[in-house]
Amino acid sequence: MESRQARIGIVGMGYVGLPLALLFSEERFRVTGFDVDQKKVQTLNDGGSYIVRILPEAIQQAQKAGFRATADYAEIAQMDAVIICVPTPLNEYSEPDLSYVSGTIRSLAPYVHEGQLIVLESTTYPGTTEEIMVPLLESGNPLGLKVARGAEESGLHVVFSPEREDPGNETVARHDIPKVVGGCGAAGAYLAAAMYGAIFRRIVRVSSPAVAEMTKLLENIYRCVNIALVNELKQLCMRMGVDIHEVIDAAKTKPFGFQAFYPGPGLGGHCIPIDPFYLSWKAKQFDFRTRFIELAGEVNTGMPYFVLEQSASGLNDHRKSINGSKVLVLGLAYKRDIDDLRESPSLTILELLRKRGADVAYNDPYFASVGRGRHYDLDMTNTPLSKIGEFDAVVIVTDHSDYDYKAIVAQSKLVIDTRNATKGIESPNILRC
Ligand SMILES: NC(=O)c1ccc[n+]([C@@H]2O[C@H](COP(=O)([O-])OP(=O)(O)OC[C@H]3O[C@@H](n4cnc5c(N)ncnc54)[C@H](O)[C@@H]3O)[C@@H](O)[C@H]2O)c1
Repeated sequence: MESRQARIGIVGMGYVGLPLALLFSEERFRVTGFDVDQKKVQTLNDGGSYIVRILPEAIQQAQKAGFRATADYAEIAQMDAVIICVPTPLNEYSEPDLSYVSGTIRSLAPYVHEGQLIVLESTTYPGTTEEIMVPLLESGNPLGLKVARGAEESGLHVVFSPEREDPGNETVARHDIPKVVGGCGAAGAYLAAAMYGAIFRRIVRVSSPAVAEMTKLLENIYRCVNIALVNELKQLCMRMGVDIHEVIDAAKTKPFGFQAFYPGPGLGGHCIPIDPFYLSWKAKQFDFRTRFIELAGEVNTGMPYFVLEQSASGLNDHRKSINGSKVLVLGLAYKRDIDDLRESPSLTILELLRKRGADVAYNDPYFASVGRGRHYDLDMTNTPLSKIGEFDAVVIVTDHSDYDYKAIVAQSKLVIDTRNATKGIESPNILRC
């Protein structure tokens, strides 16, 4: 690791795996990216990118350091370390879907070798590494290799190390985010700490993979529960005629014991709406109900419906019904300035408005079109902002910084602002909710 001779394979060239591959390349490691998506492999090998905030130049720079992509798992045999960053979604019953993780382990197990380091970064419930990854690796490799449990160097070194990226957050440099590492054995944890130490300033070693798995869930449950809290208090404040944003701004001046969370139109992204349910599912095995998670889920899931009600009420004030109104949703991404629409509340809001008879459209500089997803089937293309005056209502769901909110308010008949994006703009046509 220190001499940069170690070859690193990263499985899953998505929002987590690709930036990680670039970080290791910047540190002069020779990195191979594995992905089942041939189109992604081709794009990367052509020096291109499919993630807006990653420029093709960054891929080309990494290529100079030896980066390439492949769909061929046989190349795992040439790697000294393998880091797995594949999706961990929920199925239609909100239960963990570990098929990507188990599929990956089954595919790579035939090619593992003695002394290899294998790290899982995908977010999951405590026990996944020991209960799913280890048995599949041990039963699937033809050499009969076992997972190393102590400080000995022989066997396979298996580690869990959660990803902590916050897409679009420019305030913390990636290498300043401490990296948590929990190994099945001390040697694995040591190797993983050496590897990640090349790109992260601080490594936090914990005693087991389960502790590392639970650490990530605690972080995300903490966010989920606190967002639900402010979402609920927002609704109360609206009835009381109190501005929740002014309250939060005042509360966060307290130098201890308070962290600001902000209300919004509902949760989005691959983490906060999903990860807590990995734990509540696992908790059932222990006859335990995670009530905070369930309550937070209930409040947060209800937020797009709240936005729908508020839109109806705003239109009502203009003597209009949702049915037949033209409504423009601003922002498809689940949060500002990113090109990721997974679990985005915008999608639910568009569908709810459409079901109630609205003639819906969207604008988002990051998406030229939106088709069919797991939970939606919109089949729409981006509407230019120049047409904003044609709509009966404009619902701000994602507060991208590129938007000129003054101009948007000036040109709109009615603005439903779910993000406090119009803060400081005076107009009788704004409904903040
Ligand atoms: N996106 C984030 O901000 C973020 C932050 C922290 C943690 N995470 C976690 O990281 C993990 C990955 O998330 P992501 O956002 O990068 O997902 P993603 O969907 O962007 O990327 C996953 C990639 O894995 C590939 N893939 C799927 N199955 C594969 C297989 N069997 N072999 C090889 N490649 C395969 C997919 O084609 C895709 O390119 C998830 O567990 C997620 O919860 C994500």
